[in-house]
Amino acid sequence: MIQPLVIAIDGPAAAGKGTLARRLAAAFNLAYLDTGSLYRATGVATLRAGGNPALEADAVKSAQTLDIASFSPSDLRTEQAGVAASQVAFIPGVRAALLDFQRNFAKQPPHGKSGAVLDGRDIGTVVCPDAAAKLFVTASLEARVQRRVKELRDKGETYIEARVRADMEARDARDKDRSVAPLVPAHDAWILDTTALSADEAFAQAEAYIISKVKR
Ligand code: DC
Repeated sequence: MIQPLVIAIDGPAAAGKGTLARRLAAAFNLAYLDTGSLYRATGVATLRAGGNPALEADAVKSAQTLDIASFSPSDLRTEQAGVAASQVAFIPGVRAALLDFQRNFAKQPPHGKSGAVLDGRDIGTVVCPDAAAKLFVTASLEARVQRRVKELRDKGETYIEARVRADMEARDARDKDRSVAPLVPAHDAWILDTTALSADEAFAQAEAYIISKVKR
């Protein structure tokens, strides 16, 4: 049986991973999984059940019984969902409960696709260490803050820039410093710094890298 083509995309919040991963999945005709949405859904489910996302028993129960189909994208893209996600992501039992779903997606991509693009924080290091191509997408804190501010402005949401920056720094620290699956580039990942790149430029560079990796 032919092994599915797996592309791992990791990096910090607002570095441009999601947009890039979606475009790459479309360009190579692969399935796409935003693994952050699993952590977001776990956080939101815990809040909906009246639980505390920072509490192991509450968060693990939500992860083990997660029905991802019951969440709409707008439920998951709020700042509150992002904060709850980074709290549940800290808990080893939550990560273990979500691991099988992610690995199965990569092993047996849906809709008969011949492979999958997964984006997150630990795809190249933990979820799919054998991925054919691994990208670590990053950008300076300032560039990521400005992108998030623009996103909020475009959605008509009120925001305080200093607050967005403080939240981003806190989330970076939680992602990098946790003991299980911290945010680090895999040793064999290709680093793509998008600070000074447009979305089109980032896509062109990522596409060229992947073609160079999968050419046999
Ligand atoms: O990419 P995002 O903002 O949707 O991710 C939300 C949170 O989930 C973020 O704080 C990190 C966590 N996460 C993770 O720990 N591992 C992943 N593979 C994906 C997301």
